[in-house]
Amino acid sequence: MSDAIHPDQSARWHHVDEYLESQFVAGDSAQAAVLAAQRGANLPDIAVSAMHARLLGILARSIGATTVVEFGTLGGYSTLHLARAIPPDGRVITHERDQRHADVARASLDAAGLGHKVTIRVGQASDNLPLLADDAPVDLTFIDADKRSNRMYFEAALAVSRPGSLIVVDNVVHGGDLADLDNTDEFATGARAVVELAARDKRVEATVLQTVGRKDYDGMLIATVL
Ligand code: SAH
Ligand code: DHB
Ligand code: MG
Repeated sequence: MSDAIHPDQSARWHHVDEYLESQFVAGDSAQAAVLAAQRGANLPDIAVSAMHARLLGILARSIGATTVVEFGTLGGYSTLHLARAIPPDGRVITHERDQRHADVARASLDAAGLGHKVTIRVGQASDNLPLLADDAPVDLTFIDADKRSNRMYFEAALAVSRPGSLIVVDNVVHGGDLADLDNTDEFATGARAVVELAARDKRVEATVLQTVGRKDYDGMLIATVL
């Protein structure tokens, strides 16, 4: 995916993320514990970066979010930042297909003292979408699971959102594959499906933020509900 990226450039982005983490994240033992737990359990190294996790928390706080929905829990790293950003009686409902991932996340979030704010719905997220109606209104949705379902999750989020809700979709640039129309893998097609929906849908105003850093070249779609 990143054939066209010069290795020196990539090293620079990584270095800047290391610097930023030394400034913003170094004292945050809870986030380090979540990363250590998921590494220890051999979960894939695909959580959002620390700085992007902080962005999710900032977005949630900025709109005073109390109800957050997530698709793709993994070991609970993004979930941790979302749960911290909501008030004590707030709730994160997060969806995870893999029971083992959910178990790692549950243990980490409990250890961080945030377990009471988090519901993990284990199984194919599509099977649990009907439950979301009871969670409405949802203030912020973070979509970061199987990429082929991006559009379905986006539609499901819209159905339970209120004006001013945010919907964030991870990994929509994927090394530039977004704009490489010859690339028809799951990431590229899943990204284009949700980007093209968000661009046209009159119910939202959206943008895509291209990013570099320890996760290399990627981007997030950020939409606000009108
Ligand atoms: N948001 C996490 C990373 C999620 S990685 C973080 O940044 O910390 C993607 C996760 O989605 C994986 O754990 C994977 O098991 C899960 N997933 C993939 N397909 C899914 C599906 N159909 N339903 C629910 N979860 C799914
Ligand atoms: C993958 C999934 C992600 O959500 C991500 O941020 C990076 C990689 C993956 O499935 O490879
Ligand atoms: Mg992701």
